[in-house]
Amino acid sequence: MSKTFRLGILGSGQGSNFVALAEAVAAGTLPAEISLVLSDVENAGLLTHARERHLPAQFIAPGYFRTKLDETAEHAFVAALQAAQVDLVVLAGFMRVLKGDLLRAFAGRIVNIHPSLLPSFPGLHSWKQALDHGVKVAGCTVHFVDAGVDCGPIIGQQAVPVLDTDTPESLHQRIHAAEHVLYPQCVAALARGDIFLAGRRVIWK
Ligand code: GRF
Repeated sequence: MSKTFRLGILGSGQGSNFVALAEAVAAGTLPAEISLVLSDVENAGLLTHARERHLPAQFIAPGYFRTKLDETAEHAFVAALQAAQVDLVVLAGFMRVLKGDLLRAFAGRIVNIHPSLLPSFPGLHSWKQALDHGVKVAGCTVHFVDAGVDCGPIIGQQAVPVLDTDTPESLHQRIHAAEHVLYPQCVAALARGDIFLAGRRVIWK
């Protein structure tokens, strides 16, 4: 029997993408198991959702910095993910930039979801950036994580329309709903080994 593909999910927020991934695992459309859920925020909704599903979930204090993990915290994240024998690190609303150890330990095995059609609107509040810019199509992107911010090779994208009546909240909601479909599909393709890299291009078998 082939080995189960093991996911380590990292997030800082409400965890709706985590829920979408967990539901896809439960439904059998994502051939993987969630081996560990980690957060840098003690009361993150993501940890509550994980514990409700009896999945191993842990808060790790991020340390001194606001936008990245300090060295001790980064070691603790790496150690926990390695101990759980994680095959793929899935960032689901993890609000810190990864540098150093974690990137090295899981090189090419970390993915993220971003609420814009990258390379447009990297960074924070992308739905508001899209609306302010006046684009007619917005969306979300699943990508590999490298040392830059929101700029690794793109695995999948889902477009959504921008309506004349949109507020930042309504557009954000539409993008969020698209994320919940796109992320499980992309992670499932990775779990099946259906994806390979050709330079910056991600090819689906
Ligand atoms: C998502 O919009 C994702 O694109 C971004 O952070 C948000 C996380 O939302 N990286 P949730 O915690 O999964 O609901």
